Amino acid sequence: MRISVIGCGYLGAVHAAGMAELGHDVIGIDVDAQKIAALARAEAPFYEPGLPELLRAHRSRLLFTTDVAAARDARVHFIAVGTPQRHDSPAADTRFVDAAVDALLPYLAPGHLVVGKSTVPVGTAERLAARVRPTGARLVWNPEFLREGRAVDDTLHPDRLVYGVDGDDETSVALLDAVYAAPLAAGTPRMVTDLATAQLVKTAANAFLATKISFINAMAEVAEASGADVTQLADAIGLDARIGRAFLNAGLGFGGGCLPKDIRAFRARGDELGVGEALSFLGEVDSINLRRRTRVVDVLEHELGPLIGRRIAVLGLAFKPDSDDVRDSPALAVVQLLRERGAVVVATDPVAIETARLRDPLPTYVETVEQALDGAEAVVLATEWAEYRGLDPVVAGSGVANRLVVDARNALDVDRWREAGWVVRGLGRAHASRVEDPRSVQREPEHAAERQPDHV
Ligand code: UDX
Repeated sequence: MRISVIGCGYLGAVHAAGMAELGHDVIGIDVDAQKIAALARAEAPFYEPGLPELLRAHRSRLLFTTDVAAARDARVHFIAVGTPQRHDSPAADTRFVDAAVDALLPYLAPGHLVVGKSTVPVGTAERLAARVRPTGARLVWNPEFLREGRAVDDTLHPDRLVYGVDGDDETSVALLDAVYAAPLAAGTPRMVTDLATAQLVKTAANAFLATKISFINAMAEVAEASGADVTQLADAIGLDARIGRAFLNAGLGFGGGCLPKDIRAFRARGDELGVGEALSFLGEVDSINLRRRTRVVDVLEHELGPLIGRRIAVLGLAFKPDSDDVRDSPALAVVQLLRERGAVVVATDPVAIETARLRDPLPTYVETVEQALDGAEAVVLATEWAEYRGLDPVVAGSGVANRLVVDARNALDVDRWREAGWVVRGLGRAHASRVEDPRSVQREPEHAAERQPDHV
């Protein structure tokens, strides 16, 4: 089938490539000419494992353009543009979704289907469906649940497919079933519901995930105060099948282009609908999450004293491993908080240095872990990339000025690092934090220059 995908960002580019993998002819459309040029060369405009391979493998079935008129050849049109947080309020900015549908209207005809994938405030799809209807085309809301870093697999093998249908519309359901014939044949559960429920499924799922992370981070605060270990607590409660261990990793909390802005937008929409009280807990979820960032800096200050001029290595800038996305990244926030307290921050990441530099050009970014560790008085593990989890603590210890590591993702093997002479501070791990290792050496920085605030 010939389909178009409007919006070629983290969601749309992967969706376009995924649809080509499913055997469809795909027209990817975006207003960003640079992004389109990269995709047309079969290059991914951002880091996403597996995406370059798909783009190269299906070059003949993928056309990328900035011209929305190219959508006229398609029968199914996916809307995959962003819904960022508004600048003037916590609500979602749906202007791009509106603009995408408006741009598409002249090319719609009876028998066409517009499929909304963007995360939108409930009520948006109903408004868009009314605009589409006069063209004879129909609209279905089909939220996307893909995770960055695993987006290709999530697109090709989704947990579930949800179709929110405008009234009684079996034709659209059948058409979308034809698009997703391969995952459906593989047994992917598919649920048909109304527009409002489909939109809410996505926001509710993200709100639940954010709440789960903030719940365990609240427990981390209690663990720190009471002498408990939150990672063992998570293991133990996670064994209860009703709770489950997934998304109970305490640490620096959630970030990225989805969870933070989605819970804020959901709360704002709840206020508009007159059910603000029902969603007020999301404000606490947000606060708990943001407190983790300051907590990391407080732990360092507790260990080192005032941070002015102290050289701190930060490992990780992306909001999570296997991504170069630094939108609302907890790691980048820690870099900024450390700099505000006068620390000399040297930060690195396997793939996110360029995206971090675009967002904040001021910190010192270095390419390698060795450069970051060189002369550091403390190390912060801020994003749990596999290569950081697997660091050899003996080798890592040879370059630093002081063997102190704050494991802000609770990802390191504490015993191994201790054996190599490191003081390891976790988040929510009072036991791991309290025990001082006698072999750890608290040395003064060797170079006076390293004590100067970082004004790069
Ligand atoms: C999320 C949803 O998972 C996905 O279904 C939706 O489509 C988009 O938003 P994503 O933003 O890619 O996906 O990342 P996710 O894997 O959910 O992680 C979000 C954040 O939570 C990351 O910063 C991650 O480090 C953090 N996290 C995750 C934790 O702090 N603890 C955990 O246990 C899990």
